[in-house]
Amino acid sequence: MPRLALNVRSDQPGATVSRHVFGHFIEHLGTCLYDGLWVGPDSPVPNTRGWRHDAIAALRAMGTPNLRWPGGCFADDYHWRDGTGPAAARPRGVSAWWGAPESNAVGTQEFLDLCAATDAEPYICGNVGSGTVQEMRDWVEYLNAPAGASTLAELRAAHGRPAPVNARLWAVGNESWACGGNMRPEYYADLYRRFATFLRDFPGAPLYRVGCGPRDGDYAWTEVMMRECGRPLLGGQRLMQGLALHYYCVPGDFPPSKSATQFGEPEWDELMALTARLGEYITGHTAIMDRHDPEKYVALVVDEWGAWHAPEPGTPPGHFYQQGTVRDAVMAGYALNTFIHHADRVRVANLAQAANVIHAPLLIKDGRLLRTPTWDVFALYRAHHEGVQLPVELAAGTRRWGDLAYPSVSAAASRAADGRITVTLCNLDYAAPVALALNLPGVSFAGVSARILTAATPQAHNTFDRPDDVRAREFTALQSVTSGWELTLPPHSVVALTFA
Ligand code: AHR
Repeated sequence: MPRLALNVRSDQPGATVSRHVFGHFIEHLGTCLYDGLWVGPDSPVPNTRGWRHDAIAALRAMGTPNLRWPGGCFADDYHWRDGTGPAAARPRGVSAWWGAPESNAVGTQEFLDLCAATDAEPYICGNVGSGTVQEMRDWVEYLNAPAGASTLAELRAAHGRPAPVNARLWAVGNESWACGGNMRPEYYADLYRRFATFLRDFPGAPLYRVGCGPRDGDYAWTEVMMRECGRPLLGGQRLMQGLALHYYCVPGDFPPSKSATQFGEPEWDELMALTARLGEYITGHTAIMDRHDPEKYVALVVDEWGAWHAPEPGTPPGHFYQQGTVRDAVMAGYALNTFIHHADRVRVANLAQAANVIHAPLLIKDGRLLRTPTWDVFALYRAHHEGVQLPVELAAGTRRWGDLAYPSVSAAASRAADGRITVTLCNLDYAAPVALALNLPGVSFAGVSARILTAATPQAHNTFDRPDDVRAREFTALQSVTSGWELTLPPHSVVALTFA
């Protein structure tokens, strides 16, 4: 087997890899919250203020820097006051988008409880589609006004949080080109400017306002948003700190119809080729952003991404409940490597969604919780949080799916503040191992910690009866040589090496 040379350029440090690109997303959809992460404070299931202990532990252990809530499409139909005050008195209804009963048991304070328990920063998506500027500016005031400074600050205190929350991350609507209002970019851009003007910074809480951005490769949307909202106003004021991008890899196209667990090499190729498009889209949107914003002030915020398959047989179609295999874990590693390559522009991202919905690291059913192989990938990538991105040189082979191509290996590297270098490698080949010669010119390390996520087949996954069949473990197929390290990646694998 020929050995591919992989050079990590520690002499060319790039941008900081924001920990927020490893973020997650929880929507009032299917069983993500109700019958999922949330059991309610009176449940016999061990919980902290209604949130399952095992879920909190799993979210903490994989590193959850931020949680996006309450949607998704749900957000543009959500009125935050419905989710405040005594739970029994909250209005009940049916989710207009997802058809499920909505008790409003999870509201703003409960969401903040989960953020506090998991050490995650809240990322709140406001309602533009059916809400008002007043409603959203009040939500910001409710969370961020200094204690006692206003009636809304006092309301917050009455609801259990006297001190300002200083919630920083706010999205101004969701998918305003579709479920968020079916708007044209020109119309939304004007609306965005109006909303953002009234979402005020309170002392100690400068806002990070995220505009609705494009879907996939809709470059026209990005052009309008950057032209109208991405530049400083007269006097230098900035209205937009981030522009969202949503991209789902949907084999077979939407609505998802292909099985999450039953697939062969062609379907593997399809998913990896669709993941290669993530990098192409980021590059395309970045080129537009660079023209309007050469100093890279506005971040690209990939706040919905993931592999979206057909729902698991026997589950309600609108719940988007799917299994997660090794294939999805490798895809996740490949996507995260892509974010690291684009660390100078991509500074927030959210996998959709954290539990029971689409590409979930956690599955919860009938009171039991399992961690999918994607959970392991996020845990392995924790070493990249807040590191400095290092370029990698790798002449990987090319694999094809139709007109689309993807590399046989994906690699990313970063250096932590304490000097440790982490390299993450995804062997994107369905069946073939790959041998690598890893060179770290100019640096020498005493030791390496090496972990791998793989299994005998790409279809392998965990079940509630066998929850740990696929788990990351120590990786031993590497050896130190004079020029660096030699290693062999098994097919369909993700390897994380940390040199210290
Ligand atoms: O994540 C599921 C849905 O997909 C979200 O609600 C919406 O924003 C997207 O279309």
